[in-house]
Amino acid sequence: MCGIVAYLGNQPAQPILIEGLKRLEYRGYDSAGVGLINDHTLNITKSSGRISVLESMLAKPNPVEILGIGHTRWATHGEPNTINAHPHLDYTGKIALAHNGIIENYTALKTFLIGKGCTFQSQTDTEVIANLIGYLYSNPDGKDCPHENLNRFEWAVQHALNELVGTYGLALVCTDFPDMLIGAKKGSPLILGLGKNEYIIASDAAAIVQHTTQVIYLSDNEMVTITPKGFSTKTIDNIEIHKEMKQLEFSLDAIELDGFGHFMLKEICEQPKALTTCLGGRLDMRDNRIILGGISNYWREITRAKRIIINACGTAWHAGLIGEFLIEQLARINTETQYASEFRYRNPIIEDNTIIIAISQSGETADTLAAVEQAKERGALTLGIVNVVGSTIARTTDTGVYLRVGPEIGVASTKAFTAQVAVLAMLAIELGRRRHLGSEQAKFYIDELSKIPSKIEQVLALSEDIKKIAEATCERENWLFLGRGFNYPVALEGALKLKEISYIHAEGLPAAEMKHGPIALINNGMPAVFIATRCSQYEKIIGNIEEVRARGGRTIVVANQGDENIKQYADFLIPVPEVPEELQPMVTVVPLQILAYHAAVLRGHDVDKPRNLAKSVTVE
Ligand code: F6R
Repeated sequence: MCGIVAYLGNQPAQPILIEGLKRLEYRGYDSAGVGLINDHTLNITKSSGRISVLESMLAKPNPVEILGIGHTRWATHGEPNTINAHPHLDYTGKIALAHNGIIENYTALKTFLIGKGCTFQSQTDTEVIANLIGYLYSNPDGKDCPHENLNRFEWAVQHALNELVGTYGLALVCTDFPDMLIGAKKGSPLILGLGKNEYIIASDAAAIVQHTTQVIYLSDNEMVTITPKGFSTKTIDNIEIHKEMKQLEFSLDAIELDGFGHFMLKEICEQPKALTTCLGGRLDMRDNRIILGGISNYWREITRAKRIIINACGTAWHAGLIGEFLIEQLARINTETQYASEFRYRNPIIEDNTIIIAISQSGETADTLAAVEQAKERGALTLGIVNVVGSTIARTTDTGVYLRVGPEIGVASTKAFTAQVAVLAMLAIELGRRRHLGSEQAKFYIDELSKIPSKIEQVLALSEDIKKIAEATCERENWLFLGRGFNYPVALEGALKLKEISYIHAEGLPAAEMKHGPIALINNGMPAVFIATRCSQYEKIIGNIEEVRARGGRTIVVANQGDENIKQYADFLIPVPEVPEELQPMVTVVPLQILAYHAAVLRGHDVDKPRNLAKSVTVE
């Protein structure tokens, strides 16, 4: 979703802001803008559409413009046009800001400000923040700034933030303070990068890592004031705080294309390496145990759980569903998977010995975060399965396990999904081991887990064959994805991948559900993807394939290598290596990721920037 980059240093800010905004493109946006301070004036340039359009509107970088703010906007309030793009100026023209998040009480504040004579240009909630700060800055109701440690700009910012209901990540400048940059955060991530005589504020580490790996993560209700002399951090209630410096754990290479046409393809192909890193040091083959350092102090509590509730959204929810099946099967604990967006509003029942697992690649998904906060308030132990180190969900949960797969830039989640399943499998094995799962059984699953990366490698080698299947089928506008047991969530994930990047309508279903309605959709040549590997329901899914073929459906079947029997049922066959049923999703999902990728490319879509989508959904 929206992205913020702001710079104060010793170089022209403009190219740094543009480069930073390009690094944030993957998050999804529909307009962009930059504001540069030149002495006591502000130069703002904004446009709808791509950053390249904005770039073409900018003059040559000016060496005296060493302070600036930039933004990519994903529209929530107001259409995606130039006026609604950020930075927004206050009505006096002195204060400019870039904002991520949503201000819930903006209507009341706008009415108040209009009553005070403030004028508004845009339809955004953000302009209310600019005008509120501008109003307080210019008319502090006769009071002067009451705090010695604050100048009037900082005071107005603090005062305004205390009036806001909602979420914000903010970067702010004021023409009266031409060498001051302010950042503030509540519910939307904001990171301060500390370079050599330069500072970058960004909503995502991807916009910082080229300049420095030393960062400070702001927490909610905190602000930072930066000048060429240094920076200070405070709460928005004006309490000075010391923030610990952290090291970013990824390099620039991790966010470069590295010769691939798209990040999605790069990340699909990275899966063997990513899973090796995810599993690395965590499989104890000697004692047949799993070592998850992050949660080592919480095993007692987790093992005693009477009920586990998994919360997540989208692809992470599909991984969660596989986790539910794994935990129930291997650890025999009652587990359910909930959409975080529903859970948070359902007045959920959380009794003693209930554990909440939150799964999130970004660690910033607003609904998943809200579900965690609610569960914590109700006394549950919360465990995060998160990729982005230091993200809000990682910091909010009581304990957790990192995926360790490096930054995922492609909007369509791929390597994070397989790693989420791998972490859930490890969790289920160790939980089982601490309850009733025998050492030999654990050994079997641990051995098989260690082989998954090389099995994925074999599937990647099928990419050209899968491309031919995509060529033969991708003009069809309606698809079905069907699986049973552990492959049912894989069917859901396959359908989601196809729809989000190729804009083909696809429905994922447990195969047996088809007869209860969706079978009516099948017409001549409709593609139906079956995941029909050898598993406990193999015979049943063959029956489902026959039902589809009898009605003229065209079947694309993911089956095991060497399965001769299945050939007669498949118009197109994708042979994958054999894996125990419980671990199959990590392998069977890969051909579906590749199929979706090729279909989208063949249909001429920008795979890494699918329409209307954002990488990290930080608003509800
Ligand atoms: C789909 C996809 C989304 C995310 C969902 C949750 O490819 O990426 O469905 O899985 O928005 O995001 P995270 O995992 O960041 O919480």
